[in-house]
Amino acid sequence: MDKLLIEGGKPLEGSIRISGAKNSVLPILASALLADSPVTIHNVPHLNDVTTMMNLLGSMGAELTLGDKMSIEIDPTTLKDCIAPYELVKTMRASILVLGPLLARFGYAEVSLPGGCAIGSRPVNLHIEGLRAMGAEIDVENGYIKASCKRLKGARILMETVTVTGTENLMMAAALAEGVSVLENAAREPEVVDLAKMLIKMGAHIEGAGTDTITIEGVEKLKGTQFRVSADRIETGTFLVAGAISRGKITVKDADPESLEAVLNKLEQAGVDLNVGKDWIEVDMRNKRPKAIDLKTAPYPAFPTDMQAQFCVLNSVAEGAGAITETVFENRFMHAQELQRMGADIHVEGNTAFIKGIDHLNGAPVMATDLRASASLILAGLVAVGETNVHRIYHIDRGYERIEEKLAQLGARIQRLPD
Ligand code: UD1
Repeated sequence: MDKLLIEGGKPLEGSIRISGAKNSVLPILASALLADSPVTIHNVPHLNDVTTMMNLLGSMGAELTLGDKMSIEIDPTTLKDCIAPYELVKTMRASILVLGPLLARFGYAEVSLPGGCAIGSRPVNLHIEGLRAMGAEIDVENGYIKASCKRLKGARILMETVTVTGTENLMMAAALAEGVSVLENAAREPEVVDLAKMLIKMGAHIEGAGTDTITIEGVEKLKGTQFRVSADRIETGTFLVAGAISRGKITVKDADPESLEAVLNKLEQAGVDLNVGKDWIEVDMRNKRPKAIDLKTAPYPAFPTDMQAQFCVLNSVAEGAGAITETVFENRFMHAQELQRMGADIHVEGNTAFIKGIDHLNGAPVMATDLRASASLILAGLVAVGETNVHRIYHIDRGYERIEEKLAQLGARIQRLPD
């Protein structure tokens, strides 16, 4: 396993390109299962989670061809098997995204039940209930979700909690169901919209994606198509925070500023000078210290839980004190203890982290516990005095493409070393 060695204290400068969104490409790859001919996906980020999804589709018999320029062709017509085994699902919860498409297209699916994970229990009951409402027979036994159906039937489904992959699974299933489905209290995340656009290009009839009510009129078949994945808003936000706390000046290109409103508002509140173009954002914090802010995570369009850890680092080195409240996941402050080891003044009470900014963090050996927590430790290392070793970085490779190369491009002193 590798580690990252970071020597902090250098203001970042320059520009980088944002990759395709992890949380878009995963459901979009799964949606290929619905088609009756090959689909080609462009702007696919090079991430371990993408490799896991490709292995999963490949293990079921889909034929995958890697093209140049970050594209993948998936031929679902060679599928032999509708099983998502424990070995793959345990490394990536988003494997659950094959459940809806398999059931809708092949009438059968066996998907390992994702276990708990570092950031909470994360059940999939709403995925299962929604598919049952569409007529699927589902048993959960021996750690597997075993689902079967004739043709799914459209249904009105009210999800009691906003769930991103739940909305995506049901939208994909409904696309091939008989009749109309209405998903209420649907997730409004840009990644749901990206998936809807992909399905529409495949021939699906979907209205309302991006609102809390999505209406899907099922069709008999969906065809192969080409699709370009949108920019990763969480990677974008992570680099913007890096630029701001390092007191540098950076530009992120090929980004989607519209999907980042809540994050940009918080950066502005923190006193960050922002310049926003159609597909780029510039942060200028030369010789300025950020101000601590209060924030609360919630489903889109509110502040994303996937940016919470990064803002904990911002508050840790800011002027003043701020409270960060996590409302989406129950146990998402694993980074707080590691940041404390770097000197941060953080006190977690219930689902709120109270953080008093200090002059500087100190380098330390730290351990990454989940994807976004890993990102926050790298950010902390960039602004700490001395050396920080971030261990267990396999989490970061799940969701950030070449993070150390992009940071080095901005002048950061960061190296990947064997641990
Ligand atoms: C997705 C994102 C993840 C992000 C999260 C919240 C992907 C691949 N991952 O994860 O990066 O952090 O959204 O924005 O897109 N819940 C239930 N029952 C269910 C499903 C969810 O109670 O059946 C609860 C969860 O425990 C959690 C909340 O709903 O408290 C939101 O989870 P959800 O939106 O489903 O997260 P994911 O889709 O797994």
